[in-house]
Amino acid sequence: MKFNKLKPRLPDIIIRENWPLSPLSTLGTGGKAEFFVQPETVQQLQEIVRCAENTPVYVLGGGSNVLIPDGVIHGLVISTRNLSSISWLDEYTAEIGAGFSLPVLVKTLRERNIGGLEFSAGIPGTLGGAITGNAGAGGHGVCEYVNAVNTVDAQGNLVAFGKDDFSYSYRRCTLSGIIIASVVMSWNGDSWDEAKYSGFIAKRKNQPVGMRSAGCTFKNPEGHSAGKLLDECGCKGLRVGGAFVSEVHANFILNGGNAISSDIIELADLCAKRVYESTGITLEPEIKTLSPCFSVK
Ligand code: EPU
Repeated sequence: MKFNKLKPRLPDIIIRENWPLSPLSTLGTGGKAEFFVQPETVQQLQEIVRCAENTPVYVLGGGSNVLIPDGVIHGLVISTRNLSSISWLDEYTAEIGAGFSLPVLVKTLRERNIGGLEFSAGIPGTLGGAITGNAGAGGHGVCEYVNAVNTVDAQGNLVAFGKDDFSYSYRRCTLSGIIIASVVMSWNGDSWDEAKYSGFIAKRKNQPVGMRSAGCTFKNPEGHSAGKLLDECGCKGLRVGGAFVSEVHANFILNGGNAISSDIIELADLCAKRVYESTGITLEPEIKTLSPCFSVK
């Protein structure tokens, strides 16, 4: 049965049809969701998944590191943005909703003088999204402070992953392609390091902040900087349709206003080809493409 036939089973949830997703992405590109929901609670999230029979299920967090395909996204897109609660379990441990904003978390930790996430200064998005890609900078990632992750499986059941049930490395986490509901994070008692934080903020000056982008396009290949390689290969200023490579930092593709997602993809491919042809190095995308977590049977 299709998702819309089950709407009566979700009386408290607003189900949007043909919902434009580009306003929910920092790149400002992408098509429409056949069905779109934004649950307010984890219970609602579970109920929605239970109703999604024969429907591909997609999860959208802050939309800051994702490329949404053009056209119609067939299936159900769930936004986690309203799962944004935080509750402190003790002085250094909190259970935080997947939709909690990472910048707000950084601000909260700074105010509470809890050190650890200084490297996250200036990284946008939600905590859930940050965990699936182990967002970070300077050799650190947010997964370092994760104690447990509560997820919702294809049957709508809650499944908890402890610290030993997942692994992560540079911009990678095994908890990807999964619906994260909430996260238990724990800090080790260090104080907030303002100098370290300011250092990361200062690094942002070399980035096109305030422009429509999804952050760095490619991961840094081991021992290299993707931005430097792209710059040396003359990628700055390259353009496809409404998308162009930033003149400030060559690893940023920007939407000049009227770009569509296929412009971004074509331009990224062009840049990667240039780097490969002149250095033999294959660049791996850092931006994720919105893809289904699962298709409920
Ligand atoms: N560089 C150039 N030309 C450019 C861009 C960079 O020569 O166009 C050089 C810089 O001068 C520097 C080196 O490349 O010597 C590295 O550049 P940068 O310091 O800007 O850092 P990055 O490695 O490009 C990483 C993260 C960023 C994070 C910054 C700041 C990746 C792929 N990128 O960038 O993360 O903000 O460090 O700490 O790991 C993101 O993931 O979206 C992101 C932006």
